[in-house]
Amino acid sequence: MIFEVEKIREEFPILKSQVGKYPLIYLDNGATSEKPQCVIDRIQKYYEEENANIHRGVHHLSQISTDNYEKARKIIQSYLNARFDHEIIFTKGTTDGINLVASSFGKLLKEGDEVLITEMEHHSNIVPWHMLVEEKGIVVKYIPLKQNGELDLSTLDELLTDRTKLLSITHISNSLGTINPIKEVIEKAHQNGTKVLIDAAQSLQHTKVDVQELDCDLLVFSGHKVFGPTGVGILYGKEELLNELPPYQGGGDMIKTVSMERTTYNDLPHKFEAGTPNIVGGIALGTALEWLSGFDMEQVEAYEHELLLYATKRIKEIEGVKIYGEAEHKSAVLSFLVENIHPYDIGTLLNQQGVAVRTGHHCTQPIMDFYSIPGTIRASFSFYNTKEEIDQFITALQKAVNMLGA
Ligand code: ALA
Repeated sequence: MIFEVEKIREEFPILKSQVGKYPLIYLDNGATSEKPQCVIDRIQKYYEEENANIHRGVHHLSQISTDNYEKARKIIQSYLNARFDHEIIFTKGTTDGINLVASSFGKLLKEGDEVLITEMEHHSNIVPWHMLVEEKGIVVKYIPLKQNGELDLSTLDELLTDRTKLLSITHISNSLGTINPIKEVIEKAHQNGTKVLIDAAQSLQHTKVDVQELDCDLLVFSGHKVFGPTGVGILYGKEELLNELPPYQGGGDMIKTVSMERTTYNDLPHKFEAGTPNIVGGIALGTALEWLSGFDMEQVEAYEHELLLYATKRIKEIEGVKIYGEAEHKSAVLSFLVENIHPYDIGTLLNQQGVAVRTGHHCTQPIMDFYSIPGTIRASFSFYNTKEEIDQFITALQKAVNMLGA
């Protein structure tokens, strides 16, 4: 073992839970991660000692809250290695971040302009672009998926045209675990003069992300998948691009002046942060990333890879199992089906034995259409999971399969 998993598990009170008479085996980390005690404590401290609105008051608590919120922004800047803290925009989450970009960047698009996405995107990176097809007559194109769950990047040269204004791509597939070679994709897109938005919702918790090294123009992620709270996320954008983009929502904090006739907009980052934000969420997200920065992400990656290899080997012992997503570079996600058994039935029987997995299309219906399946059962791992838990999961799965009589 590369590091002390048992010590890490001690920091997560929820991992001691029982589901009926079974200990909880939490394998739904792709949907949301559990929270370490320091994040839980930070949320409580905020409401007990600091609660006040930010950027608005001269009073003591408002200053403390504002300082802590802006301190969190700097922690996140440093975690992503962004050049400036005003390149860090607080959002509600990944979906909100992509909708922000679609709405704002979308205002600059003209009929016939193209947005290139991929067949493995989450609905949140498909639907906002479909909405722009209806509103502005833009064209959405797709990098195709291959049978093994990788993207067919040999199509990229052909798909990138002089009308491709934006390429929006997931770093890691939530359904298949595929790790896309985004650095190469970004380079190719830039050679074409195309801006790139990275959906990092499934990557920051598994691997180091450095926005300057990647040279992405925009990047989004959610707080709740990186050990922070729900309802908060980040849009990173290069300063120059964010300055060019029109504001998203109108309201307090995003303005410089408002007269009866017109509004002038605030500077970054406030231009994109209308209204009272999720203050405690932002502060606790800072705590979560500070906590995560205490780990060597290469070790985390190596350990999770070991878990993935072990789970893959063990699940293949069960007759009738078919794995979806066998990319060469893969994050710790195991999507599978068992022949002749509906995924929901397996999910329900696993739950009855304390095992939490996700079943369904995972908000990626085009992937399910590609494989002509209704959905999968998805076990998604974090670095607090163990091989013992995988053994228990496999035992529970075998029992479920026996009961359902495949
Ligand atoms: N997008 C999240 C998942 O993959 C909710 O489960």
